[in-house]
Amino acid sequence: MTSERTHRKDILRFGKMIHERGFIAATDGNLSVRLGRNRILTTPTAMCKGMMQSSDLVVCDLDGNRISGRRNVSSEIAMHLLIYRLRPDVNAVVHAHPPTATGYAAAGLPLSQPLLSEVIICLGNIPLAEYATPGTLELSQALEPLVPGNDAILMSNHGVVTYGEDLHVAYMRMETVEHFARIALVTHLLGQQKLLTDQDVEKLQSVRAKYVTALNHGHNNGGRERSSRQRPPAKTY
Ligand code: 13P
Repeated sequence: MTSERTHRKDILRFGKMIHERGFIAATDGNLSVRLGRNRILTTPTAMCKGMMQSSDLVVCDLDGNRISGRRNVSSEIAMHLLIYRLRPDVNAVVHAHPPTATGYAAAGLPLSQPLLSEVIICLGNIPLAEYATPGTLELSQALEPLVPGNDAILMSNHGVVTYGEDLHVAYMRMETVEHFARIALVTHLLGQQKLLTDQDVEKLQSVRAKYVTALNHGHNNGGRERSSRQRPPAKTY
């Protein structure tokens, strides 16, 4: 079992990475990890997530009440708690504002075109949640129907949230979303999109479940597979 110390180090590491890669600016974004049945380790509010120290992190309960730490919990903690509640298989959440994917979210466009085989295999569909004020119950309500069947969601006029078995997986999903958004944008610049056929998508979805299991465990157990728990249903395009 991963220790709290390691989870803290991971949050600092991936917070630095999302900052250095330009997925967040200033005090944007938040990251969290499930520590156990009733405890969540989260980034503090209103602080640069690329410049944190372990003592800046906050432990809270499943209602978002602070258990330990000197700073206040992220203003987006309700969104993280919603995801942990609806997805028992999820142990980490990353929220960021990567510029290209957030541009799609601000244009009212989901990243749901079947354009790239690898994205369908690794991530599936990336839907767009309706706009709601950050940190409110309305935002959780907008996300709720999309959380069970997806691992990455665009939030209208706001940003992106990704989640996974651990922080490494949740972070990589954020990278994939932004990379895909850049490629999708290039197809718009070129004025043409050659979409995969329904048959192509079906074939890719059939290898998805196997790939996701390998991805979830590949970096921490040498790629040995184990049975999937609470795996989200196959995405539809
Ligand atoms: P916090 O600093 O409160 O986590 O909020 C950052 C953010 O990105 C809100 O959308």
